[in-house]
Amino acid sequence: MPYTPSELSKPITVQTLRKMKEDGEKFITVALYDAPMAAMAQRTGVEAVLVGDSLGMTVLGYDSTIPVTMEQMIYHVEAVARGNKKSLIMGDMPFMTYATPEQALANATRIMQAGAHMVKIEGGAWLAETVKILTDRGIPVCAHLGLTPQSVHKLGGFRVQGRDEDTAGQILTDAAELDEAGADLLVLECVPAQLAKRITDSVSMPTIGIGAGRDTDAQVLVINDILGLTEKPPKFSKNFLVEAGDIPGALHKYAADVKNGIFPEDSHTFS
Ligand code: KIV
Repeated sequence: MPYTPSELSKPITVQTLRKMKEDGEKFITVALYDAPMAAMAQRTGVEAVLVGDSLGMTVLGYDSTIPVTMEQMIYHVEAVARGNKKSLIMGDMPFMTYATPEQALANATRIMQAGAHMVKIEGGAWLAETVKILTDRGIPVCAHLGLTPQSVHKLGGFRVQGRDEDTAGQILTDAAELDEAGADLLVLECVPAQLAKRITDSVSMPTIGIGAGRDTDAQVLVINDILGLTEKPPKFSKNFLVEAGDIPGALHKYAADVKNGIFPEDSHTFS
């Protein structure tokens, strides 16, 4: 029977998402930034919402996520937390706010106190110690590998990562080390579908793909892309508003298409 999205009946926890991975049930994630959208996500059954530092570009008009501050993240996490009492709320930690484990602990504390249930940090094995320190102290962590936008200047642009054997091997090793350190979720952004599948099959934490094919445990899209607000939308995204006709319908269609294995299609995927 095709899945029809409906209001979340109870709060989603890390354990809910782990169980969904075990049961092979995909979950939905949306990056969004304000209370009304957060409330709509709850009504649509979106299991996880990400207050992404993409808000630097989607809301604040910057060219990258690098200028985003703790104060801006806290402002938006608070708004999302006011609008949604059921989805698991992840808050991004801005550029250079987790460069050392001490900074990570102090700044993650502020994001959690703003209403997040988990923090997200970008980077590989160098963050294993930080993941252990945060999770040992009760702060769930979502790791982020592949295209990590805070490193855009090191990566030489917003490019697909892991296409050659060396970088694919590095991403696999990073995922294994972050899993071992206790990370709770892993975002895989702009990596070949086959690599995302290998990682998803090899780690215990659920994976959330964006431009990572259909074999991750969950999908995430940015609300601006779902609603066709982005001037030059990325290949992996889809404007669901065109077919749906209104905003609740667009979110509903995105959720249904992910759950029913319709989105992402080959045209949204990298090889
Ligand atoms: O900041 C963000 O919205 C993100 C997603 C694109 C995964 O990191």
